[in-house]
Amino acid sequence: MKAAVTIQAGNADVIVIKEVPEPSLKQGWVLIAVKAFGLNRSELFTRRGDSQGVIFPRIQGIECVGLVENDPSGTFKKGQQVAAIMGGMGRFFDGGYAEYTLVPLEIVFPFNSNLAWDILGAIPEMFQTVSGSLNQALGIEAKETLLIRGGSSSIGMLACQLAKAKGLTVISTSRNPEKEKILLANGADYVIIDKGSVSEELKEIYPDGVNKVLELVGTKTLKDSLKCICLKGTVCMTGILGNEWSMSEFTPMGDIPSLGRLTVYMGESKNLSKELLQEFIEQVEQGSIQLNIDQVYKLSQVSEAHQYMEENKAKGKIVVVV
Ligand SMILES: NC(=O)c1ccc[n+]([C@@H]2O[C@H](COP(=O)([O-])OP(=O)(O)OC[C@H]3O[C@@H](n4cnc5c(N)ncnc54)[C@H](OP(=O)(O)O)[C@@H]3O)[C@@H](O)[C@H]2O)c1
Repeated sequence: MKAAVTIQAGNADVIVIKEVPEPSLKQGWVLIAVKAFGLNRSELFTRRGDSQGVIFPRIQGIECVGLVENDPSGTFKKGQQVAAIMGGMGRFFDGGYAEYTLVPLEIVFPFNSNLAWDILGAIPEMFQTVSGSLNQALGIEAKETLLIRGGSSSIGMLACQLAKAKGLTVISTSRNPEKEKILLANGADYVIIDKGSVSEELKEIYPDGVNKVLELVGTKTLKDSLKCICLKGTVCMTGILGNEWSMSEFTPMGDIPSLGRLTVYMGESKNLSKELLQEFIEQVEQGSIQLNIDQVYKLSQVSEAHQYMEENKAKGKIVVVV
């Protein structure tokens, strides 16, 4: 089979198209004919050698959608549409950047849909992350105010749509003034251009602060995001777009406002349910959710797709079809 193999840690050109053996069947694992997959920021970190315990060469890809080719457990019939996410996929065992992938049964989610594979490929990890962050971590409610820091990312764009559908007011940020129109068209009520700090501009709109903040830029802007919440407001750090994993100084009684809440979301396959996934796919089919897919690449172009993501040119999800 053809696979995009990351031969060693490094720049995007370490991903090379190769002919490799199809994975061998084993009990408890499902062989999937991959049809598409979304590209994820964490895969850039893994490729650069920043994911602990990953040994190269490795077929990366923490998610995919496709058709069951063989399930020795008999749980799924050949041809069932499925998604697979996380659980070590593309890190500790070979993942979705290939014509076939063999994954543990517990990370496989069946669904039925007539949507094209490039659209389906955008969904699993993005939906799991957004739904988990908004509902499980932030516990968003209608009429609340939500600041999305890193609003032009694919996660940020979908978060805005799901929050708007639930009746929240959304303020999205981008560093790039050219993206303001796109964020407004995506449903944001306000856009703030992030020059490293947004709390002063935000307080001009909401002097008491917002109820919830979805922090996707990470440690670089976290202290400023904590300044944006109202009494008993919550910040959830889900992303690390700013590329910094830790902070040199953090003073809990000082940086977190009194009665404010700080949490993180690190989604896993167990955070997704097959019912929620199917429900979301149907919302996309009906057009009540408009997925922002920026580019669709072929399997032979995974290296280019990594490069494109790294250059921050995308205004939505990057998908690869197989
Ligand atoms: N916790 C979890 O379970 C989980 C799961 C999936 C993803 N994530 C994380 O969620 C975040 C978003 O992922 P994604 O795939 O949606 O990203 P993405 O679509 O690739 O985001 C791209 C955008 O991020 C912004 N950005 C890039 N570098 C930045 C920097 N240094 N400072 C501030 N903004 C920067 C840029 O927007 P502007 O130029 O418009 O500012 C860029 O266009 C990532 O950090 C990812 O690792 C977390």
